[in-house]
Amino acid sequence: MKRLSAIGWMATVTVLSFASPKAQAQHTIIPIETKNNALVFQTDANRNVGIVYMGPRLSDKQEYGQVAAMYKQGADYTGVNNAAYATAGSRNLFEPAIAVTHADGNNSLDLQYVRHETKKLDDNTSLLTIYLKDPAYNFEVTLYYKSWFNEDVTEQWSEIRHNEKGNVLLNKFASAGLHLKAGSFWLNQFHGDWAREMQPEEARLTHGIKTLDSKLGTRTNLFQPPVFMVSLDQPATEEEGTVLYGALEWSGNFRIDLELDNQDNLRIIAGINNYASPYTLKPGEVFTTPAFLSVLSTHGKGEASRKLQQWARNYKILDGKGTRLTLLNNWEATYFDFNEAKLKELLKDTKKLGVDLFLLDDGWFANKYPRNNDNAGLGDWQENKKKLPNGIASLVKEAQANGVKFGIWIEPEMVNPKSELYEQHPDWIVKQPNRSEHYFRNQLVLDLSNPAVQDHVFNVVDGLFTKNPALAYIKWDCNAVIYNAYSAKLGNQSHFYIQYVQGLYAVLKKIRAKYPTVPMMLCSGGGGRVDYAALQYFTEFWPSDNTDPLERIYMQWEYSYFYPAISMSNHVTDWGKQPIKFRTDVAMMGKLGFDIVVSDLKEKDLRFCQDALTTYNTVKPIIWQGDQYRLQGPRENAVAAVMYVNAAKTNGIVFNYLVSNRYDAGSLLPIRLKGLDPQKRYTIRELNVYPGVTSTIDSSKVYTGEFLLKVGFNPEVKSGRNSVVLEVKAVN
Ligand code: GLA
Repeated sequence: MKRLSAIGWMATVTVLSFASPKAQAQHTIIPIETKNNALVFQTDANRNVGIVYMGPRLSDKQEYGQVAAMYKQGADYTGVNNAAYATAGSRNLFEPAIAVTHADGNNSLDLQYVRHETKKLDDNTSLLTIYLKDPAYNFEVTLYYKSWFNEDVTEQWSEIRHNEKGNVLLNKFASAGLHLKAGSFWLNQFHGDWAREMQPEEARLTHGIKTLDSKLGTRTNLFQPPVFMVSLDQPATEEEGTVLYGALEWSGNFRIDLELDNQDNLRIIAGINNYASPYTLKPGEVFTTPAFLSVLSTHGKGEASRKLQQWARNYKILDGKGTRLTLLNNWEATYFDFNEAKLKELLKDTKKLGVDLFLLDDGWFANKYPRNNDNAGLGDWQENKKKLPNGIASLVKEAQANGVKFGIWIEPEMVNPKSELYEQHPDWIVKQPNRSEHYFRNQLVLDLSNPAVQDHVFNVVDGLFTKNPALAYIKWDCNAVIYNAYSAKLGNQSHFYIQYVQGLYAVLKKIRAKYPTVPMMLCSGGGGRVDYAALQYFTEFWPSDNTDPLERIYMQWEYSYFYPAISMSNHVTDWGKQPIKFRTDVAMMGKLGFDIVVSDLKEKDLRFCQDALTTYNTVKPIIWQGDQYRLQGPRENAVAAVMYVNAAKTNGIVFNYLVSNRYDAGSLLPIRLKGLDPQKRYTIRELNVYPGVTSTIDSSKVYTGEFLLKVGFNPEVKSGRNSVVLEVKAVN
């Protein structure tokens, strides 16, 4: 064996074949190594590029070349079972990543290794590029693997291009493929609907294909988000087991195929859904797929999500390391029923409560068809003269006079049939010319594949900022799926779903070029849209319209596997039966907001909220930027507990909730804390104590980190004390 080169943590190792009958043929080993893991490709004598290893990294790179020989799993009849990017129509017998019809009508594709290169982008980031080409056609695919060393995160995507004598039809065009080996595979997936987002399900993968997908066009996560986990050999727990997290960075139709093959290996192919979307690729045109994100941990789900959350804050979410604004929203306080006088009162309440910003929700616009309920006005983004005779400008001014900021709700991709926009631009609306309209929340979707519509949506936002430069926040909603997908503008209807999303990104890019920092919430009638492509433009997302705090404990738990607390907007509302303290405590596990009638609060409740906000302002850096540890799950325990610890391990916040109504339910046992330094000594103090209540926690006691990690601490949660927030602080 001869070692050729090693560049940073990605190396190329060329070894002489020991497996191929064509003895002495050269095999190139291409490992992507991050701090803990390696994803290893290997070329064979026929220039196929396969994945031979995904697991903990090895000290000796040469040994990656020995991995394949250790598996005796029966026949790979094709030689491409483990293809990095499986093709259709040639030897591959399984689900392809790519399927094409060439300019001459031929349906076969074979992609052979040409070369690869690695580039170190910065201290922590590297890019591997693998060039593939069809020997029979002028058709190429370039695979990209961007890896973040410290976080063990990889993004992979592809570029597809050709120079054939006519167009090529891409029948399937996935972002990426992975190929895993293990004794068994356990899929953790999520499903939902309005107000019940992120319901988890876990099952062993059986042979054949399990597909996670969406065909909703927009707000595509309504029934299923593009995130999942696969545990290897056994279901991973928080602390133990090998688990791969996957997520597609695409805000449209997606498709993730998980196929267990004849050799019991798992192929994962993720990308844009090819449903109703064969793509016509012109000679010379480049089709770039969205990125497929993955992170692997051999120490359970907790480690995987901490790495992913860190990556998201450092590299993906807009202003992930920055700050966020607490707010008072008027949606549930007023719904559509408000006027300037009422809003001015709410602005005073915003100040009184102690939040940073007032967020004016739906209902402020449209005149010919006033937006007084959800069946009219959407699309007509002029202030309603009756409700707001002096416009938004006077409210922004009033907010400033009250010492608070002002934000506004928009849903610029949508239109009610009862609107001037609908009357004026019927050709801007997604609908079939020869079929009756079908509505989702009484509305239709604007055709963002049309550049004129892109301009319109940009102008809605730009107009608001131009008229009101002090506008400090946007809640961007998106409440309808796409029915009757058809664009009056588009020549090729098969491109519609893709170009809709590309159009959306074009608008968001333009908005961010002009307004790079203004915080925007990604909302979609709840959590119908969050993904890591969208979060490049948004500072936060709205996980669900369901703000019942008991439900939120479960939902935020599941979201937290994939998204950090700083990106999760949680509002205290009147949903649920729990007291204000419980509701506020739950909302604090993310970006805190309120959507209540402040003037209706009892004196003590108001005081509690005001104090809680003061506390939140001191502890929010720990929640937003700290490491999150899910200590006890709500599904298996009477008490659910989640902890956040700062990087120095000197400060932690522990949230504990009673989630059972059974007799004697409570924290009977101590709850083991995590993430602390065993050598340090800590005090524990209860936060968010309701006025007039005395905490049962003795804050003068000192515990070693070792004690809190090994024995734990009892928050004394029980009926009547069903929500307990603790601050863990190192003493010198
Ligand atoms: C969606 C959002 C809500 C609210 C309404 C307004 O349902 O999720 O928070 O903004 O729209 O119509």
